[in-house]
Amino acid sequence: MTTVIQANALSFSYDLTPTLCNLFFEVKKGEFIGVIGPNGGGKTTLLKLILGLLVPTSGKIEVWQNKNQIAYVPQSTKFDKQFPISVIEVVLSGLLHLLPWHGFFSYQDKKKALDALDQVNLTEFAHHCFGELSGGQAQRVLIARAIVQSPELLLLDEPTASVDYQAKADIYEILQRIRGKVTLMMVTHDLGAATSQVDRLFCVQKSLFSLKPDEVCKHYTMGLYQDPNIPLKAFQ
Ligand SMILES: Nc1ncnc2c1ncn2[C@@H]1O[C@H](COP(=O)(O)OP(=O)(O)OP(=O)(O)O)[C@@H](O)[C@H]1O
Ligand SMILES: [Mg+2]
Repeated sequence: MTTVIQANALSFSYDLTPTLCNLFFEVKKGEFIGVIGPNGGGKTTLLKLILGLLVPTSGKIEVWQNKNQIAYVPQSTKFDKQFPISVIEVVLSGLLHLLPWHGFFSYQDKKKALDALDQVNLTEFAHHCFGELSGGQAQRVLIARAIVQSPELLLLDEPTASVDYQAKADIYEILQRIRGKVTLMMVTHDLGAATSQVDRLFCVQKSLFSLKPDEVCKHYTMGLYQDPNIPLKAFQ
């Protein structure tokens, strides 16, 4: 299988304290990776390093994917409520790199954007002002903005954090639909869903180790993000 992301001795610090330290990992094409870990553990930082928004302090991270084929759903839905942009325009902004010289999106692009909104069950809000939406609805619009790009690599930072039960189910259904075709990396605190949805979990707390979903429970329920190579007995 083709490698899409590879980190070798990757470290990053915002200041003197290291945020991520000596990470080694690989993500293969079509894998669905869940990223878990405590608040402040470095999950968002890791996604930003993959996106090239941050540069490693030392070590290396390589991403074999054209930038136009990477979509990102950021963690928070902070937006300017006064900014006059409609929901459909937010979704279309995911296709800005395809905007022709005359500055108008084609009928096909608008149809694609409407289809993406339909997938997150927000068709009726297409012409509403984005700033009027609830936090959960806004989050779903950002997911539509990502999927309209038909990405090869999709990075999602807590996409289900502020959504209700139905919206959460819709989001997981979308991810299951594209699973295998798109390389997925999703940060989440929703451990139950994560373990049932993903191929592997990256546990990030300054360091990173990888677990299969069936290995995670016994470790997590102990409240530990410990390396599975260390026998659990050592902590009992
Ligand atoms: N721009 C920044 N400047 C300085 N420190 C930062 C910056 N962004 C994050 N940090 C610090 O880096 C550490 C990791 O932050 P990060 O946002 O990656 O954590 P996280 O695992 O995504 O947490 P959460 O689950 O709360 O989203 C934290 O201690 C945070 O305070
Ligand atoms: Mg975060």
